[in-house]
Amino acid sequence: MNPELYSQHLDTVAQRWQAALDFAGFEAAVVAAGRPRDYFLDDRAAPFQPNPHFAQWFPDGDCAESMLLIRPGHRPRLFFHQPRDFWHQPPRLPAWADANLDAAVFAEVDDLRDAVAAAMSGCNRPAYVGEEAPGNLGAADHNPALLLNHLHFHRAAKTAFEVDCMARANQRAVAGHTAARAAFESGASEFDTHLSYLAAARQTPEQLPYHSIVAQNRHAGVLHYQHYDREPPEPLLSFLIDAGASECGYAADVTRTYAADGDGDFAALVRDMDTAQRRLIDGIRPGIGFADLHAAAHRAVAELLASHGIVRCTPDAALETGITRAFLPHGLGHLIGLQVHDVGGQQASPEGGLRPPDPAYPALRLTRTIDTDYAFTIEPGLYFIPMLLDELRDGPAGSDVNWDRVEHFAPFGGIRIEDNVVVTGDGVRNLTREAFARHA
Ligand code: GLY
Ligand code: MN
Ligand code: MN
Repeated sequence: MNPELYSQHLDTVAQRWQAALDFAGFEAAVVAAGRPRDYFLDDRAAPFQPNPHFAQWFPDGDCAESMLLIRPGHRPRLFFHQPRDFWHQPPRLPAWADANLDAAVFAEVDDLRDAVAAAMSGCNRPAYVGEEAPGNLGAADHNPALLLNHLHFHRAAKTAFEVDCMARANQRAVAGHTAARAAFESGASEFDTHLSYLAAARQTPEQLPYHSIVAQNRHAGVLHYQHYDREPPEPLLSFLIDAGASECGYAADVTRTYAADGDGDFAALVRDMDTAQRRLIDGIRPGIGFADLHAAAHRAVAELLASHGIVRCTPDAALETGITRAFLPHGLGHLIGLQVHDVGGQQASPEGGLRPPDPAYPALRLTRTIDTDYAFTIEPGLYFIPMLLDELRDGPAGSDVNWDRVEHFAPFGGIRIEDNVVVTGDGVRNLTREAFARHA
């Protein structure tokens, strides 16, 4: 936590809230962190994830039941929950919050909510932003779309504090990736590799922004492979790791792919994908459409398929017939920040309205025109996914595919290379490559 950047960040967040409240016609808003949820018929709670609108003001996850009152022209008021609890360690009010917010501490949730209700009663038309509105606060407009659309649209542009958090999250993730690569090279299983990752990233699984994908051999062709085999396969051919880290609630989302045989065909394909990924990033400027970048990624995959003998047709033909869609079925990237797939990726304007992707690319989450300070991932992939390849084989373009070559690569699963970038005036800051360079 950089206190100076945090304080500047709060100024920007306050300006955005003022604009959003004005636009949506509200004088104030209560923002609730949320509460932990118990599993069905159990007294154990699922890991708590705060409301991201709360987290942007209060970047610490130890905040269950706390609330904020945002009222332009007034200092933000924090109603901080600190239960009297000898079963757990109660949260403590952080010094940075006390210094920047008008904070009051409550031991009882009911007292906290009563205090919020009393504060709200002094406001004309308050909004309530949170998962569920408690009874005594339920009269306020609950998650009004005009307010949320405005906030979500502007959240794409990150403050210097947010970029700093994401840079640190990338450094944690890259420490984990470096250890995981060494574990793979020593022949470790998926499970043991993930333990190495966690130890080096210094995070628990609950702290990670998403369930790590640690995939050896054919598992690398399962886009969100979720298991951790306790034994390595024989022979161990390939390794795809998509694993992130969090810093003050901000996510890193990083993928690398490795070949066991550094001189083989799969290693060459990985190297060429790495080059293609860097070229895509080199082309990013404010003002370009992300959908155009996604189309450029498909062209790059078409060229890889042709140059590695996986198709017999030209790259143009592989694009036109839709062959590349069987090898790259996900989007090139997504906004990233407080949520690993951050909100607003398909929003057309602050007022709302969606810009859906081309129906040929239904999985594309980001369709916006790129602007300065936007943070997103660039994650082209090329996979050998039996379900999609079976459809391709049976379709009209099946004869353009070199199926012997597909059989050759299928045991390696697939490739994804994923970096997190922030757009600058004339290009990007690549938080992931920067962290790998520091780690080298
Ligand atoms: N880790 C999920 C993704 O790359 O979007
Ligand atoms: Mn990822
Ligand atoms: Mn991603």
